[in-house]
Amino acid sequence: MSILTVNNLKKHYPIKKTFGPEQTVKALDGISFEVKENQTLGIVGESGCGKSTLAKQLMKLETASEGTIDFGHSEISSLSSKELQSHIQMIFQDPYSSINPRKQAWKLIAEPLFINTNLSKEECFKRATEMMAKVGLRPELANRYPHMFSGGQRQRIGVARALILQPKILICDEPVSALDVSIQAQVLNLLMKLQDELKLTYLFISHDLSVVKHISDTILVMYLGKIVEYGPREQVFNNPQHPYTKALMASSPSLNTSGKQHTPITGELPSPLNPPSGCTFHKRCPVATEACSTSVPQLVKYQNRLVSCSELN
Ligand SMILES: Nc1ncnc2c1ncn2[C@@H]1O[C@H](COP(=O)(O)OP(=O)(O)OP(=O)(O)O)[C@@H](O)[C@H]1O
Ligand SMILES: [Mg+2]
Repeated sequence: MSILTVNNLKKHYPIKKTFGPEQTVKALDGISFEVKENQTLGIVGESGCGKSTLAKQLMKLETASEGTIDFGHSEISSLSSKELQSHIQMIFQDPYSSINPRKQAWKLIAEPLFINTNLSKEECFKRATEMMAKVGLRPELANRYPHMFSGGQRQRIGVARALILQPKILICDEPVSALDVSIQAQVLNLLMKLQDELKLTYLFISHDLSVVKHISDTILVMYLGKIVEYGPREQVFNNPQHPYTKALMASSPSLNTSGKQHTPITGELPSPLNPPSGCTFHKRCPVATEACSTSVPQLVKYQNRLVSCSELN
């Protein structure tokens, strides 16, 4: 059963100009997907394609312009912030910038308990240190401050803090991008272990396709606020269909693409304020035809996935 269902989600940011008409950035432009319990959805796409905007709508940090988000049977607008936090939490690329440097580790981890429950300080301390052990931090380090930890350990604090209210879904927004490669693997292994143990569902956002490939069951590829390809990991990686997915894979040096050669991505991401007509990828697409500059491709079924390319429309 789906633990998260997103339907036709849009987030359009109005951009006010001193002169001229108001413009909009369509950061999300009609996104639909679902995630099954205990699975991982990997979300990929270049900088600015709307990944963090999606996370913000799911965490209810912003109000979507259109569309619906359902957690199981609860629509997001019907959930209080406390209820929402029991469904979904988030970890960030750089836990250091999102945590208070003057708080001891256990207090950082326990903070959501202080805010959302009436548990005693002793009970909060106990739960925080238990969670430290779960994420591979020695509970003896409970009284240390963030700067006394390494980057990998700080990300473990971020994970512990995100899990302390026992959410079912965890959004990981570039969780290992700021870490050394050797430490990345440790944090990824921890996330996979915790997923098994706690039956967690992950939305895993990353630039690094090799990381996404490692951890995901399903892959969602975004381009300028839209889904261009969405389906099972093996299919998307072994036989990508959208020219953008192919180009992304060819641009990822760390990815071992089983002998298939695609052209790496070229050109700049167009301005989101003034995206190209038709298929917004057509100016960078190696196989674009005349028609691609005028007709907007729809997501259509291809095998077990959805692809938005005029070649398949
Ligand atoms: N509050 C805002 N007001 C106006 N535009 C915004 C706002 N937040 C995001 N955007 C724009 O929306 C688009 C999507 O941004 P978003 O941060 O979701 O991208 P991203 O995929 O997370 O990128 P990155 O990989 O760099 O983190 C960008 O063009 C961004 O400039
Ligand atoms: Mg982002």
